Amino acid sequence: MYNINDIRSDFPILTKTVNGKPLIYFDNGATTQKPKQVINSIVKYYSEQNANIHRGVHTLSREATILFEESRKTIAEFIGADENEIVFTSGTTDGINIVASGFPFKQGGEIIVSEMEHHSNILPWQLWCEKNNGKLKVIPINEDGTLQLEKLKDLITEKTSLIAVTHISNTLGVINDVKEIIKLAKQNNIPVLIDGAQSVPHQKVNVKELDADFFVFSAHKVYGPTGVGVLWVKTNRMNELHNTKAGGGTIKTVSFEKTEYVSGPMRFEAGTPNIEGVIAFAAAINYVKAIGIENISKHEQELLEYATKKLNDIPEVEIYANHLGKAAVISFNVKGAHPFDVGTLLDKYGIAVRTGHHCTQPLMDHYKIPGTVRASFAMYNTIGEIDIFIDALKKSIKMLL
Ligand code: ALA
Repeated sequence: MYNINDIRSDFPILTKTVNGKPLIYFDNGATTQKPKQVINSIVKYYSEQNANIHRGVHTLSREATILFEESRKTIAEFIGADENEIVFTSGTTDGINIVASGFPFKQGGEIIVSEMEHHSNILPWQLWCEKNNGKLKVIPINEDGTLQLEKLKDLITEKTSLIAVTHISNTLGVINDVKEIIKLAKQNNIPVLIDGAQSVPHQKVNVKELDADFFVFSAHKVYGPTGVGVLWVKTNRMNELHNTKAGGGTIKTVSFEKTEYVSGPMRFEAGTPNIEGVIAFAAAINYVKAIGIENISKHEQELLEYATKKLNDIPEVEIYANHLGKAAVISFNVKGAHPFDVGTLLDKYGIAVRTGHHCTQPLMDHYKIPGTVRASFAMYNTIGEIDIFIDALKKSIKMLL
């Protein structure tokens, strides 16, 4: 039974008022709020457990190491992975950069991305192309925001080094048929990287079933802390990937003549990692597991359906990717008003939405707009909040037009 009141009471920030109004937080695509289980885990870590890991024989260090490695197991299990395939990173962007700078792609190779990618899944590949005489190719989108997958076959050549696509668009909520992309890539022996930053928070993900080569996501979009994320590397790719950062924790032996690195994820985790972040990440995953990701998905879909209908009833509103079967993200504009003005007025009503290009400028160029207003929902949002949002939006439209 999905008890929304119990869930909300776990998130201390949801009792806050903003501009004299109860906070309505619809900016979950940017980052989610944190339940007390995650906050308490950080407090507990620094109050009772803090020590460096993988380095000490003393009790605190051994205990912190166990907590850290147990977190790896918890997160691995959540996405259907083996624990030795989980590299802790500082987030999705870091994970993509590790692959872009560490995988031995052939000089002059071609990287295929899509028109809806977040800048984080474009810029590292642009840099790679600049340095390696490579070429970036783009899968175009249809007007409804879905990928023109039939065009992918024509983009693939014997020079294709990688297909790097998002699982779910952060701006539109569109869910890509990554299984189909991976199938096609495999037929052509091309590795695939999936940006799962927006899929892991909204739906069940099993990396083994997807069977890509790399999968990246961030803790802070799944109710965990900022500054920590995962790069999942398929076992047979682990040894192919070079470590681009070196330092403590990554080695077996060091001498001035020769250094031997460990194999497995720790080879990519140089220096003292974000220990409390990783432990709190596992607390977030345990929280999501207790609620049930399928239940969260179902709840968010109800919110998406309701909000889409209400927004479609407002004649001045134009929704991009105006269909269901998406993640609970709605990007829209008020015809004749700038998205920043709409966002600023909504803020006066205590409503947090994201406005702007959402780090997807090529997608904005496609629609020939400077930006959108984006409402993105999470497990704790309610139909009542959507009613207040719609009412505030109507009032804002009256002020603006
Ligand atoms: N990628 C995050 C967003 O979509 C920051 O808002």
